[in-house]
Amino acid sequence: MASRCKTAVLISGSGTNLQAFIDAVEDGSLDLELTVVFSNNPDAYGLERAEQAGIPTACIQHADFLNRESFDRAVIAELDRFEPELLILAGFMRILSPSFVAHYSGKILNIHPALLPLYPGLNTHQRVLDAGDAWHGSTVHFVTEELDGGPRILQGRLPVQPGESADELATRVQAIEHRVYPEAAGWVGSGKVVFRDGKCWVDGRHAEEPAIQTFTETSGLG
Ligand code: GRF
Repeated sequence: MASRCKTAVLISGSGTNLQAFIDAVEDGSLDLELTVVFSNNPDAYGLERAEQAGIPTACIQHADFLNRESFDRAVIAELDRFEPELLILAGFMRILSPSFVAHYSGKILNIHPALLPLYPGLNTHQRVLDAGDAWHGSTVHFVTEELDGGPRILQGRLPVQPGESADELATRVQAIEHRVYPEAAGWVGSGKVVFRDGKCWVDGRHAEEPAIQTFTETSGLG
């Protein structure tokens, strides 16, 4: 039997997505080995979540480094002790240098709270409301040098409700992230989805568009 994909999760904050990974591994629905949780922020609550789950943690503060390159080199040295085959960015609030992305080429996933290519960057929920969009959601994608621009794997989408606030929308989007992110990571961990030649391949076929899951009822999702 093939060994489980060794996975590092990178966080900076609360870590609700990390918790979704922990829960999915524990209940057997996700076949990854969470080998380390890394944070650039020693106060990240996600570090406690990891400790409670018995997952090793590591923390390096970016403020201790002169520049992004030297910080990223230190992070690589730390992560490589755990020989990760997959890196999950879960609210990791640092932009990665090109050399970091190249070191783990095709092995880094991110989740972005928008239906990419719509709304890369920050404040996505308010921007969706301001534009009057009917749909919003979140996208799991491979990380490349282009911010929020790598090949998309899976989108979870939901209808925007009349009169809802950006905070309410953010809460509903985060709930679907907890479903789609572990699912997409499982596809990559199993080799069903791979990154090759700068593109996303599913079952050996180039996937120009991401898979889409629609959530019309998001109350009750955690
Ligand atoms: C998520 O909403 C994700 O879209 C964004 O960062 C947030 C992390 O939240 N990339 P959490 O720390 O997992 O709760």
